[in-house]
Amino acid sequence: MTAGLGARLARRIGRDGPIPLAEFMALNNAAYYAGRDPFGRGGDFVTAPEVSQIFGEIVGLWCVDAWERLGRPAEVRLIELGPGRGVLMADALRAARLEPAFRPEIHLVETSPALRALQRSQGFDAVWHDRPETIPDGPSIWIANEFFDALPVRQFVRIGGRWHERLVDRDGDGFRFVAGPALRRAGSGEDGDIAEVCPAAGGIAATLAARPGYGLAIDYGYAEAQRAATLQAVSGHAPVDPLSRPGGADMSAHVDFGALMRAGREAGAAVWGPVPQGEWLKRLGIEARAARLGCQDDALARLTGGDAMGRLFRVLAFGPASEPAPAGFCDGEGG
Ligand SMILES: C[S@@+](CC[C@H](N)C(=O)[O-])C[C@H]1O[C@@H](n2cnc3c(N)ncnc32)[C@H](O)[C@@H]1O
Repeated sequence: MTAGLGARLARRIGRDGPIPLAEFMALNNAAYYAGRDPFGRGGDFVTAPEVSQIFGEIVGLWCVDAWERLGRPAEVRLIELGPGRGVLMADALRAARLEPAFRPEIHLVETSPALRALQRSQGFDAVWHDRPETIPDGPSIWIANEFFDALPVRQFVRIGGRWHERLVDRDGDGFRFVAGPALRRAGSGEDGDIAEVCPAAGGIAATLAARPGYGLAIDYGYAEAQRAATLQAVSGHAPVDPLSRPGGADMSAHVDFGALMRAGREAGAAVWGPVPQGEWLKRLGIEARAARLGCQDDALARLTGGDAMGRLFRVLAFGPASEPAPAGFCDGEGG
């Protein structure tokens, strides 16, 4: 797959010229996730639900609380975007059994055939979708953990007082960044600045925020616009050059929470946060739960610690406008 995508891209660029970074990233991630399980020690990276079952359990209890805030609808959809191995959903559903009346219909948005198979093996009934638009309407609770960071980004670089889109060109047997033609609008900025945008993120957030219900976006990212590249790639738990192995490394970029918040509000929802993940988990009682389960200290530290996922990752909630903040958030936070 890796050599195949690299060769296909090299042929195509040789024939048609450089391609936008977003296209390279979309093809890379589609090929990367299509046929492998990248999670855990033997893979390329570890996500919060893979660190400890407590993460998914707390998310599950948050979903039950959100359902109660919606008036306990008998018919409710529980939606997860980019569910990976399905561990978060399995842990969330186990914790949610505390409230037997909460019997959601599960909808998973996942494009990878390999990961769909792993999700199916978790043993819960679900309906799979390529995109959130095909999920039937109705009261919904949605979760996206490390989903938005996998969506393709465009980058623009400031050179000679003008913005240029960053494109990917061939470079011998590999690939390199080149600057495309100057954009017509001069805009502002300093030479060397890089602007990054994720064109798909706002539309997906708006689609979800327009559903009646609540949602959670959990990811690493920033709320204030910034002028730097955050694109990264990992393989075997180590950073690698993002262009060095097409289809063989996970490419991701920090999430622009400001853009998600704007999209949510424009769709008519209220937003709360983003709150650092560690703070949010503590507000929801992770320490007491960890003590009861005899959870290892290092797992708790990884999920909540200031030098680990606890501060790097943030949690943003979406919900009905004019309702009070959902569990783990405070009124006025982000709203
Ligand atoms: C970093 S993993 C996160 C996995 C999981 N949420 C977790 O926390 O362990 C990204 C997930 O998003 C899926 N994904 C990436 N891009 C996607 C897209 N454009 N549409 C649907 N799913 C996508 C991947 O296949 C994978 O399941």
